[in-house]
Amino acid sequence: MSTHTESDGAAEIDLADFIAGLPKCELHVHLEGTLSPELKLALAERNGIAIGQTTVAEVEATYQFDSLASFLAVYYPAMNVLVTADDFRDLAYAYLTKAASQGVRYVEMFFDPQAHTGRGVPFSTVIEGYRQAIVAARAELGISAELIMCFLRDLSAEFAMATLMESLAHKDWIIGVGLDSDERDNPPSKFAAVFARARQEGYLLTMHCDIDQVGSIENIRQALEDIGVDRIDHGTNIVESPALVDHVKRRGVGLTCCPVSNSFVTDDMKATEIVSLLRDGVRVTVNSDDPAYFGGYMTENYAALADHAGLAPADLLRLARNAFEVAWLTPRARDAYLADLEAYAAGFGLAS
Ligand code: HPA
Ligand code: ZN
Repeated sequence: MSTHTESDGAAEIDLADFIAGLPKCELHVHLEGTLSPELKLALAERNGIAIGQTTVAEVEATYQFDSLASFLAVYYPAMNVLVTADDFRDLAYAYLTKAASQGVRYVEMFFDPQAHTGRGVPFSTVIEGYRQAIVAARAELGISAELIMCFLRDLSAEFAMATLMESLAHKDWIIGVGLDSDERDNPPSKFAAVFARARQEGYLLTMHCDIDQVGSIENIRQALEDIGVDRIDHGTNIVESPALVDHVKRRGVGLTCCPVSNSFVTDDMKATEIVSLLRDGVRVTVNSDDPAYFGGYMTENYAALADHAGLAPADLLRLARNAFEVAWLTPRARDAYLADLEAYAAGFGLAS
């Protein structure tokens, strides 16, 4: 990766070094999308489940996707290896270990309860495993984490509502709700009542508005204007609507972008859109989405975007700052993370 010389003649900054040490906040990662081939094989063996592959190379050979739908067709069957609370704990702990090693300080992690309850794994088993990992990672790795429960939008609104009701017993461990899976013919309006109830119950709201979908702009409009989401996951098609760009700027709504993932499910990483929104003052952030499948955790996502778009350290700093700013943190925690970030920047001669 290149070095970057600040225009005022300050010392050259090695971008790879700068990214490696940057205090990071991740807001768009699916825990089930962090299931590595190695862990998938180990859990299959532990649970006596035949998955059809016995080596990492064989597992990776099944990773053939060029769209959201073709990715999801690989993603859901893999979850069959997750059965016990220990499995969920090991999955989340492995991700948190990797994230902490890349300078992630705080993460809000998606999980898909219906992908588990739908095949007979109790909600409480899923939460118990994830909870144990969060508690251990905070003490042992110094990384803080929260959970966001996603509804599967290709399933019924009734199932989503029942899942919302079931989640209330575990509310202390869930900070908000999201919406993922196949967006086609499953617009936000389908879940308006579920999200209204989730808001009443005190959950914060986010929602996937995937890249280049049929009706992307109308779906983004519904998410913002009709549902009133606090954040949008992906959502870069918003560049097509100046009115909606104004909306997110006015309300300070963050967009959680995933450059490496974008380049798998569409034909490019949408760097032009992400950077144009960044320059326009929209709170875009960098995230990994499903890193075990797309091959990029946080560092690789920052590096890919920086390389592709020729970003400077100040841009990377802005992206990291955006994430802490739109994270669902208490003001006190947010200020502490931002102070660490500014201290890091100052070490490179970058003033806030
Ligand atoms: N979009 C929709 N559903 C998903 C995704 C995504 O990026 N990742 C995992 N499930
Ligand atoms: Zn996602």
